[in-house]
Amino acid sequence: MIGLELASKPLLRAYSIASPNWHEEFEFYSIKVENGPLTSKLQRLKEGDNILFRNKPVGTLVNDALLKGKRLFLFSTGTGIAPFTSVIRDPETYEKFDEVILFQTCRFINELEYGKSTIESIAKDEILSEIVTDRLRFIPTTTREQSQYTGRITDWLKSKRFIEAIGSDLDPSMDRAMICGSNAMLNEFKEILLKRGLNEGSNSSPGQFVIEKAFVD
Ligand code: A2P
Repeated sequence: MIGLELASKPLLRAYSIASPNWHEEFEFYSIKVENGPLTSKLQRLKEGDNILFRNKPVGTLVNDALLKGKRLFLFSTGTGIAPFTSVIRDPETYEKFDEVILFQTCRFINELEYGKSTIESIAKDEILSEIVTDRLRFIPTTTREQSQYTGRITDWLKSKRFIEAIGSDLDPSMDRAMICGSNAMLNEFKEILLKRGLNEGSNSSPGQFVIEKAFVD
């Protein structure tokens, strides 16, 4: 939970920590709502300003909630990519999985920028680039503007598109997934994964996939 003290009252919202656990700074990724109670102020923060930070992080998108596997699929829409920019920069992810495939679906190309620049920063990082090598794939798609890849990944999974891009369908014996987006998106993914034979996991009972709401809608 991060936020600001506004009119002597704390205003906090749940955010994903977008930076990896070894990072010296915390990174957050947010939409900016011009009239939003918090983000209208957050976007105007200057260096040296204070923010509120609740010191007990919670969340389900952690490696420990997943059984060991070969491929890790990270499915996100919009700012739902934030927890995954942490996961893809965590060396432990590559100890647990051979391949990591990050999907982000946005309406427009300019919304894919944060994911693209994070991927570029991995390639430029001496230590991380050696760990990740060619084991990380980023598949950004748009739904309301033409780009390299178009369409919702839920639709890719329901058609041949997913197999064409990845080479094979989801396999519960070796594939694990984390999903982050809106409620509607999570429900749709959950239904698809359950039908493919993957089960939801938690810290106390690891499974084949875990989900987390990207924002309150
Ligand atoms: P679409 O443009 O077809 O609605 P939003 O801004 O509404 O949260 O959407 C962000 C991105 O997520 C958009 O590209 C949107 O596609 C896509 N999206 C919305 N709902 C779903 C869903 N149920 N399953 C998969 N993708 C979704």
